[in-house]
Amino acid sequence: MIIYLGLLFGCLGVYWTYVKLSSYNNKLIPKIPKKFNINNFRVCFKELSKWLIYAGEYSNDVGGVSKFNYGPIVVYVVSNPEDASTVLTRCTSKSFVYDLIKPYVGSQLIASDYPVWKRNRRLLDLAFKQNILNSYVAMFNKRADALGVDMSKEINKEVDFTHLLSRYLLGTACYTTLGVNVNDQNVSIDSYLKSVDKLIKIMLNRFVQPWLLLDFVFKFSELKKEQDVALEIVQNFSEEVIRKKKTQFAQNNDHPGDIDEGNVESLLDILMKNRNEDEISDRNMREIVDNVILAAYDSNVYMMIYILVCIGSYPDVQKKVYDEVISVTGQTDRDITHEDLPKLVYLEAVVKEAIRLYPAGPIVGRVTTFDTQLKDYILPAGCQVIIHLGAINRNKEHWGQDADDFRPERWFDSMPTHPAAYSSFSPGRRSCIGKSYSIMLLKTMTSKIIKKFYISSDDTKLDFEFGLFLKPIAGHHIKLELR
Ligand code: HEM
Repeated sequence: MIIYLGLLFGCLGVYWTYVKLSSYNNKLIPKIPKKFNINNFRVCFKELSKWLIYAGEYSNDVGGVSKFNYGPIVVYVVSNPEDASTVLTRCTSKSFVYDLIKPYVGSQLIASDYPVWKRNRRLLDLAFKQNILNSYVAMFNKRADALGVDMSKEINKEVDFTHLLSRYLLGTACYTTLGVNVNDQNVSIDSYLKSVDKLIKIMLNRFVQPWLLLDFVFKFSELKKEQDVALEIVQNFSEEVIRKKKTQFAQNNDHPGDIDEGNVESLLDILMKNRNEDEISDRNMREIVDNVILAAYDSNVYMMIYILVCIGSYPDVQKKVYDEVISVTGQTDRDITHEDLPKLVYLEAVVKEAIRLYPAGPIVGRVTTFDTQLKDYILPAGCQVIIHLGAINRNKEHWGQDADDFRPERWFDSMPTHPAAYSSFSPGRRSCIGKSYSIMLLKTMTSKIIKKFYISSDDTKLDFEFGLFLKPIAGHHIKLELR
């Protein structure tokens, strides 16, 4: 009995010391000095992006872990690859902020609980296999050619190509995801784009006005009415396609849709063929495809802009990319093939370097499911953590003193050894499924554009706005001249 009591008290003693030590240890985590003053951020997404950049730099300066207060909640910021890997591998639950996008993205993928995510991700993996991605390249070429025609109407002047790129890249995302040309949908692309934009703004408005986080307050607000209208437009968009496809599948037509750009199998086709209808309803399927469209088009629009800005700001880089594209594909207008893409090694370094400096999704959020031992601290279970992917990508300990410079050559030099040092697509579980898709699309489009145009820009004028993505604003104007 005495031995048992001794053991019990011993265990309690160890546990108490551990809890004490962890909370003491936690207090040592440096607090970001510039206040995250939510009232100042009211609808001010530019300020939010400035604060985020500052928080990442501060966190890197203090060794890769810092913290700040969001109202009464302590939020930890992690910007070193070792700790980011630990959190993203061990903690699979998303932070409370993801609840805000649930009305839009639902609970099947980006904002889902882990078991649902695991089941759906396995299904989704089937649609991102290399042979399927290869079959998309012909369509990427067609879109790039059409984009080039529209771009050539805007030459010899500084232009913001965001809207034009959004139209083309939404079209591309819908084609590979739903298997249809969006032009054929009843809803216009512009009203879809506006509605998505509105939904993201509503989400951020709630984030910066925390009383709107309470559903019973939000329910009576003007924003909720606006959200309902926007949601109807966005959801009808894919719902209609699913309805049509179901009928066509029922008629035993293996390849429905208007396939005029190569015989590609869309994500929706693959989901419909492989899902278990008892587990994944039509609504769930709609949510999954909506998630993929959302993740695919905005990120690529902004990445395309950053790539053009980088190439346009460094004439020597531009010359190397142009020479390589010509040497691989010749002077003619022929399509880029999937066999060409691995040969464009310098272009790949340029694309990866732009994605390193300006990752479209610069942060992800998780909740610690268990007490989590980092290099120097212990985060107790239940902590809100931001993994600052943008800051990890510029961490000087791993990337060197020139980490903030655009230098594609670094991809041929000695690279950081830690696998999470390049974090743009998020390390650990729940990482981006669209990495290869993105790089193939961005390389194809850039090759086509650079063959047609000489690009000028100025990366020192880049300024940002933070929505769901890191969006380039005023100053990123790009000038094209016909070659
Ligand atoms: C360069 C462009 C892109 C970047 C930087 C990027 C980055 C990311 C990041 C950081 C995440 C993790 C989000 C989180 O944990 O909350 C993510 C998730 C995701 N991305 Fe991407 N992405 C890009 C392009 C794409 C494309 C083109 C697609 C689709 C074709 C895509 C599909 C997805 C999906 C479906 C998820 C959710 C994955 C899951 O929860 O299993 N992404 N992306």
